Parts: sequence; structure tokens; C-alpha cells
Amino acid sequence: MASTTVRGFSLLIYTIALLTFLSFLPISTAKGFKIEEATIYGLQLAFRNDQLTSRELVEFYHKQIQIQNPVLKGVLELNPNALSQADKADQERKAKAPQSLSPLHGIPILLKDNIATKDKMNTTAGSFALLGSVVPRDAGVVAKLRKVGAIILGKATLSEWSYYRSNTAPSGWSARGGYGKNPYTLGTPCGSSSGSAISVAANLVAVSLGSETDGSILCPSGYNSAVGIKPTVGLTSRAGVVPISPRQDTVGPICRTVSDAALVLETIAGFDINDKATIKASKYVPKGGYAQFLKKDGLRGKRLGVVRDFYGFGKGTLRHETFELHFKTLRQKGAVVVDNLKIENLDEILNDQSESIAMGLEFKLALNAYLKDLVASPVRSLDDVIAFNKKHPKLEKLEEYGQDIMLFAQKIKGIGILKEAVLNMSRLSHSGFEKLMITNKLDAVVVPFSSFSSILAIGGYPGVSVPAGYEKGEPFGIVFGGLKGSEPKLVEIAYSFEQATMIRKPPPVRELKV
Ligand SMILES: *[C@@H]1O[C@H](CO)[C@@H](O)[C@H](O)[C@H]1NC(C)=O
Ligand SMILES: *[C@@H]1O[C@H](CO)[C@@H](O)[C@H](O)[C@H]1NC(C)=O
Repeated sequence: MASTTVRGFSLLIYTIALLTFLSFLPISTAKGFKIEEATIYGLQLAFRNDQLTSRELVEFYHKQIQIQNPVLKGVLELNPNALSQADKADQERKAKAPQSLSPLHGIPILLKDNIATKDKMNTTAGSFALLGSVVPRDAGVVAKLRKVGAIILGKATLSEWSYYRSNTAPSGWSARGGYGKNPYTLGTPCGSSSGSAISVAANLVAVSLGSETDGSILCPSGYNSAVGIKPTVGLTSRAGVVPISPRQDTVGPICRTVSDAALVLETIAGFDINDKATIKASKYVPKGGYAQFLKKDGLRGKRLGVVRDFYGFGKGTLRHETFELHFKTLRQKGAVVVDNLKIENLDEILNDQSESIAMGLEFKLALNAYLKDLVASPVRSLDDVIAFNKKHPKLEKLEEYGQDIMLFAQKIKGIGILKEAVLNMSRLSHSGFEKLMITNKLDAVVVPFSSFSSILAIGGYPGVSVPAGYEKGEPFGIVFGGLKGSEPKLVEIAYSFEQATMIRKPPPVRELKV
């Protein structure tokens, strides 16, 4: 199975898989080590104690994918070379001193399908239009992962084109990947980095990467009880990532724990010759990485702002009660919670059209540039993609979902308008979020997910989502957002909150009923 598209399984294979594995569904592996929910540190310890090899780990995830992916559809493709990469890692571990190896050495990672890999896998953003395209090189973040010996397990499903095709397509749907399912509810996983969040949540992989333009890491992280970091724009390279807006796009980890997310972030952050934005933003990368900020007392002395406008649930609701409890916890852990703050120009921000206008213009330019750079591709421009969808209406479910966002982007013109929109957004950010942060001397704002993603998106600011609770079985997250380059503080806050609350619990194992 390792070399074929996962959704191509026949019923026969399902049945065999079920009969074979149902009898010993995951408890623990050989030598008593339990892989489910293990952190990177836990896995490394098991490697060193000879309780686990990278090959066993990859085989375990292959089994989990075989069992659960027909229902969850979090994984789009498996890397046919994952086992050989695991064997290589196992050999290197024997030959080298443990301290010389990265924490990600020998750890399987899943990549959102808009992140290019120059290997046997396809990079398609979930669309058949890009199937068979050949990328010139690994994405910048993938090159960094390979360098430290991480194992590329496969590609994750996503909302097609990172939800930049159609406003009516369900979140988590793509033509190639089908409908991704939330492992907790079997309902929406939220997107667009849906498969990344589904897969780590359901223990189909150790860690994953997603990308965000506006909400695409933070939302699925919350919905699937995962931890997501949306880094400052430019902190991580976007080279080789199917784009929406270079001004807003950012690549970040989706994992089960803050410590895993910090370790993945420190591996992928920093300068990449193929993404100019990384030159300026690399000043934000702390010497010694992000793991040093995993402090249990990380909340002590932190000033956290609460903007009630983002708490769109009434008093007496479970979410309201839960967040009040969380504020109490944050205070108990030494944070100063500054309540009832206002973003002065919030209405203007939320009604402003600049973001959607700018994104339309930027998408066309950036996508055309990405497609032109491919070694081979069935499509070379946005016009080609739109024509492809029209030519393959069944394959791409055109009648159901259309392609209104792409048509909007195709139509919209004018460099002058783009400049004006970008100026508008930076004005709104300066007199809005930045002013709030600076005048109140805040380290972070704390919000439920909601429309806050746009505030972070238009300013290129970072945010971290941590599991915050469950309502009728559906997980929700708490988001800490800060100024550019504030990831060290956000990691301290998020880790300290996570350790104080420990809310994440794994979802039930989901199998196909035959
Ligand atoms: C990539 O797509 C091709 C179809 O063009 C398919 O044959 C191949 O199996 C895919 N690769 C993987 C690793 O799934
Ligand atoms: C920029 O902001 C001004 C003032 O709010 C508004 O009239 C204009 O339409 C905005 N421009 C764009 C491109 O959104």
C-alpha cells in the first residue's frame, strides 16, 4: 500500500486490513512502549532505550492509516520512501552520538499537500489540475526537515487550493482527497490545513505541517484538539508552497503538544535563499531555538489581554464557563489578565474589503509565478486552472462547488488598488492590534478562534492554538496572539497553559464499518 494513493483501496483490502488488525488495535508496541500520544521527546527516549526504531514507528503509522484513513481521509499520499528513510535514520542513530542528532531525527512528519517535495510524491493542493506536475526542488521547509533526518511520511489532505477556489465547497474537501473528517465528531475538521490536524489528532503520524493565510492552521488545530503555531510571516520559508498571498502566507506546525510544535518550528524557521521574506524575519529566530521556552512557569508575569468582542458565545454557555475558568487558571499561574479591552477600529477592520481585494490580486500573481517555476505541469497559470476545472467538471465537482473565488481573482485588476489595499491593512493594524498591544503593555491577546484570525492575518502576526475544551464532544481551542517575532513568549504562555490544563485527549479509533 505504501506507494499508492490512499483513497484507492479496494473493499477487499479494507476487509483484510480490518480482520488482521481489529484483534489487536493499538495499545502498545513491542517492548512495552506506547506510541499513541507519545511526544517527540518520548519517542527519542524510546529510540535511545532500544524500545523503538523509526522503522517500527513508520510501520505503526502505516497500520493506523490503513485502519482509520478510509474514514478520516486525513492522508492523501504516502511516501514510498518512508521506510527506507526510517532504516537510514535507525542506522545513523547507531553510528552517531545522541547529542549530535536533531530532536526530529527519525521522526515521521506529514506535509499539507501544498508543500512541495521533490520525490515520488505529488504536490497538488488537492486538485487534479496539478497531478503529474514536477516541482523544481523541495520546499524550503522540507529541505530543512530532510537535513536533520526527519522522515517525510506523506502528504495531508486539505481544503482544495487552501480554500481559494470556492466559497461553497466544504472546509476540508478537495477533489483528490475527498472530505476530511474530524476524528472526534466525524463532522467538519475545519480547514484549510484539515488533514494535518486530523492526522496528528488521530495518531496517524507524529507531527505535521500546515499553512495559514487567514485561519488555516489555527482553526483546524482548535477543531481537532491539536496544537498549531501560525508563525510570523517570513519566519518560515514559503518557497515551494502553492501560494495564496506572499504577504500573509506562513507555514507552521500542527502537533499534539506545544513541545512538539516548538521543536518542529525551530527546525523549519529561518533563512531560505528562495524566500526573500526570510531575510528580514530571520532576526526573530532566537539563538538556541524555541525549546528553551518550554517553561512550566512561563505564564508568570505575562500580561494577557482579553477582547470580549471575540467571545461570541453568551453567558451560561459551556464555552463561556470554560473560558472564565481558563482566565482563572492563567491568573493562578501568575499572569495578569487585562479584561474588557477594545480594539479601537475593530468595526472598520471587520468591514474592510482590503484583505479580500489584495488576496485576489496577490493570488493570481503568486500562483502564476509558482506554476511557471514548475519543471512540468498540466497548468501554467490561473487561467489554465480555471479552464482545467471547466474541462473536468465531474472530477473537480464543478457543478456543486463552482470556482467563484478563482473567477474573482481572475477578473480583478490593478496594481494601484493592491497598493491601496496593503496600505489600508497596515494602517488598520497599526492603529488597531499594535496600538492595543503597546498601550496595554501586553505580551499576548487571548481569544477563542473566531474572527481574530483576520487580525493576525492582515498584520502578519503570529498565533498559537492550544486545546481548551470540548462541547458535545467537539473540541475547541484557545488562541494566544502577539506581535511579530513574539513566538518565544507565545511558546512560554502556550506551554504553561497546556501543562496547567492538559485538556487534549485522543479521539476514538475510527474504522470503516464493512
Ligand atoms: C502521484 O500521482 C500519480 C498519478 O499521476 C500516481 O500514479 C502516483 O501513485 C502518485 N504518487 C503517490 C506517492 O501516491
Ligand atoms: C482603503 O480604505 C479606504 C478608507 O477606509 C476605503 O475607502 C477604500 O475603499 C479602501 N481601499 C481598498 C482597496 O480596500
